[in-house]
Amino acid sequence: MNSEHVRICLVDDDEDDFVLTRDLLKEIDEQRFEISWIKDYAEAVEALTMKRYDVYLVDFLLGEFNGIDLLNEAEAMGAQVPVIILTGKGNADIDRDAMRSGAADYLIKDKLSADSLERSIRYSLQQSNALKALKESENKYRNIFEKTKDVIYMTNKHGQFLDINVSASELFGYSKQEFMQMNAAALYANPNDRLEFERRIHEQGSVKDFEVELLNKKSERLYCLLSTVIQYSADDTEEFYLGVIHDLTKRKKAEQEMMNIEKFAATGRLARMIAHEVRNPLTNIHLALDQLQSNEPDEDSRMFLDIIDRNSSRINQLITELLNSSKPANLEFKEYDITTLLQETLALASDRITLKNIQLVTRYGLDASIRVDREKLQIAFLNMIINAIEAMPEENGVLQVETSISEEHNLRVRISDNGSGIPQENLNHLFEPFFSSKPKGIGLGLTATHNIIINHKGSIEVESKQGLGTCFTILFPLNN
Ligand SMILES: Nc1ncnc2c1ncn2[C@@H]1O[C@H](COP(=O)(O)OP(=O)(O)OP(=O)(O)O)[C@@H](O)[C@H]1O
Ligand SMILES: [Mg+2]
Repeated sequence: MNSEHVRICLVDDDEDDFVLTRDLLKEIDEQRFEISWIKDYAEAVEALTMKRYDVYLVDFLLGEFNGIDLLNEAEAMGAQVPVIILTGKGNADIDRDAMRSGAADYLIKDKLSADSLERSIRYSLQQSNALKALKESENKYRNIFEKTKDVIYMTNKHGQFLDINVSASELFGYSKQEFMQMNAAALYANPNDRLEFERRIHEQGSVKDFEVELLNKKSERLYCLLSTVIQYSADDTEEFYLGVIHDLTKRKKAEQEMMNIEKFAATGRLARMIAHEVRNPLTNIHLALDQLQSNEPDEDSRMFLDIIDRNSSRINQLITELLNSSKPANLEFKEYDITTLLQETLALASDRITLKNIQLVTRYGLDASIRVDREKLQIAFLNMIINAIEAMPEENGVLQVETSISEEHNLRVRISDNGSGIPQENLNHLFEPFFSSKPKGIGLGLTATHNIIINHKGSIEVESKQGLGTCFTILFPLNN
């Protein structure tokens, strides 16, 4: 024990007990004590709460209250100090209650000796210091748990959440209470990923940097890295999963955007090269054709010459469209109201919307002008709107057009439909020239759209579920 005085407080309404205890403490050579006496319950609560003493010796009977009331009250006030309960006669129930309420020890007054008192005080202080160290360490890890930007969670082995930090609510949009009712499997965009996660954790005991797509409360996809280890309960009977989720969505989207721009530049170069190479021989074909047509051909030859003429014109037209859709457009920017622009675009598609009995839902969530090339941007939106209309059935089609401000303060335009949806394997090819799944489609609509959006410093994202529909999200920097 250290050389300093240990401050003892005896809480007892009997002065004789105080004198006896003080004398016992004096007999102890190894440690010096400073003993004070409190006989009033309220005063004792205050002393405990203010942590005035190192150890409290508390008589079980304290007038209308008892020692366990005092313990409970001190605990409720957050005072964790060692309390030793003293009773006149041994009683197993009081002993158990005292320990359950956090008493450090339970001593019977009649059997009290200097030795037993010294040992009890020493153990209580040691236990209290150990608890304090544990509390400090717990606070430290709690702090890391709560303050880190990554999601940290704990589930039981069935995936039921047991604890989760604040970052999880920020990332996924569920409150902590909602998480506590949920199973981790519900967050997976792809159920097969959950199965793969379970397989790895069972086979390897941990999962490290597993790339998964998770869903937030609004069912938006988040690209995440998931790491999890198995933890066992103190008695080794239960398994828990302790995991960290790192959100990569922003990085992934930025990478995707960069890739799109590079791919776009490459297809543009290829288109210009092909156009150049094909146009020269095509001009020769036209010249030869003119020559043959001026030589008064017979009926049969005229028919074949017409076929050659029509098809080489079609090739020429395709090349022009390819060039238009992929070459950097000469844009003329002017401030224009985005709501008006969308309304005008929808007016251009109104015949098709009526013809297919499509329900149009518009939500214009902001009043903003942006610098745009009005005609070009109308073409970009119209291409997407026409695709949406074409993807929807004759009945029950719903086309939604909405504007809002994104989390990053960009202007967001969403065009969504409840049409056929796009198979996952096609999603990466949508903006490529001549990619089309339609019998009469050219596959240049979205190439042109992408070109125009990029030239407005915007970005475009597609989410689609087969059989459910498709949503195009276009973001523009405000004040561009
Ligand atoms: N809203 C949508 N729903 C379902 N599929 C779509 C949607 N938008 C685009 N697609 C798919 O993307 C492909 C490419 O679209 P894009 O507009 O570039 O060409 P297209 O519509 O086929 O032909 P066009 O050049 O005449 O526009 C479409 O053929 C279709 O498969
Ligand atoms: Mg199209």
